[in-house]
Amino acid sequence: MGGLTDAAVKQINEICERYKDEKTPLMMILSDIQNEYGYIPLEVQEIVSRNTGISVAEIYGVVTFYSFFSLTPKGKYVIGCCLGTACYVKGAQNVIDKFSEILKIKPGETTEDGLFTLDALRCIGACGIAPAVSINGTVYPKMSVSQVPEVIEHYKAAE
Ligand code: FES
Repeated sequence: MGGLTDAAVKQINEICERYKDEKTPLMMILSDIQNEYGYIPLEVQEIVSRNTGISVAEIYGVVTFYSFFSLTPKGKYVIGCCLGTACYVKGAQNVIDKFSEILKIKPGETTEDGLFTLDALRCIGACGIAPAVSINGTVYPKMSVSQVPEVIEHYKAAE
């Protein structure tokens, strides 16, 4: 969204307008913006603040507290490695470390080509198939370190 276009500003205003009669509109507004743009940078939070009268500090607090909101653009493929207890005891840390090593990014970061974001997640409700990895909603069961390179290649090959 860098250097917000007039159209983007207009659309953010419209999203805020959509929920103006709600008592607690912030989550709905931020969810719509996140879905529309994929992230919610500070300049957007300022527009939401102007529209709603909610302070930027409070909006920033919400955006940074909930992991489904993002301050920075996410990659085309978002790799979510579950580090919940069940996954952790089955070696999830080694799995995320392998993604990290190959992609050369830490959890929370995005590769320079914008292709991959690596996220560490809490339990995603797939403990029976731990360690679980979710990539854009597709869940990979019983992920092993040795599978990581081929999974990455699979997505690269799709480009
Ligand atoms: S702990 Fe990973 S899916 Fe539950």
